[in-house]
Amino acid sequence: MIRWSFIELDEVRSTQEVARGLAAEGAPEGTTVVAKSQVSGTGRLGRRWLSPEGGLYLSFVLRPGQIAHPELATIVSTTAVAEGIEKSTGLAPTIRWPNDVILSGKKLAGVIAEAQASGGVVSSIVVGIGVDCNRRSADLQSLGGEATTVEDELGRPVAIPEVMHSILGSFSVLYARWAAGEDVREEWTRRVATLGKQVLVKLKTEENPFSCTATALEDDGSLSVSLAGRARVIRAEDLEWLREQS
Ligand code: BTN
Repeated sequence: MIRWSFIELDEVRSTQEVARGLAAEGAPEGTTVVAKSQVSGTGRLGRRWLSPEGGLYLSFVLRPGQIAHPELATIVSTTAVAEGIEKSTGLAPTIRWPNDVILSGKKLAGVIAEAQASGGVVSSIVVGIGVDCNRRSADLQSLGGEATTVEDELGRPVAIPEVMHSILGSFSVLYARWAAGEDVREEWTRRVATLGKQVLVKLKTEENPFSCTATALEDDGSLSVSLAGRARVIRAEDLEWLREQS
């Protein structure tokens, strides 16, 4: 089990930046940076993550050693976020590959996992998690109505530390199983909304989006799709965006 230790901050540029710095200085696994707000929160592809007070913003350090497929950190973390939110609030979010936690068709939480490697060996992974908790959708208009919050969905605010500990508890269990060599994709598959769906995919490497059917999650966390009857594998790092069409 992970031994969690917490650095609690009020306002920070980005918990991810702080945790990355601590990881580089040798901080042990479980070192967790939590902030009440961030002025420069970032998501996948360097996108801005709005982080006023009322959200959960945290980043933690992993030292996975020789773990199989370190790329699965995003899949494991996203599963833990969905499960942790469910256990602490009773809401039942789903997952949109690769890193979105969804409720009522809108984004509720996001995950970013950044690996640091030297000599081909992963020395640390910093996982960042943002959950829109105690805010109202009125605050989220700037996101184009594509986001929701725990408070909106529940009709009442939640205790943010409870949500955090629930997520970290779920993560600990999944991580131990992953480290023991178990296949942890099953939990993800039970919660994912993307598989079996017609999806529209936009890759960074291609000009036009294309429509395909999401068919399976590969060992390394890539998504297999079927495109006009032909199989194709999409890597998360190549993805600009993905939308379900049916
Ligand atoms: C995404 O959906 O693109 C991932 C969003 C991750 C946001 C979290 S909030 C805590 C941590 N600090 C950051 O700057 N980013 C992550």
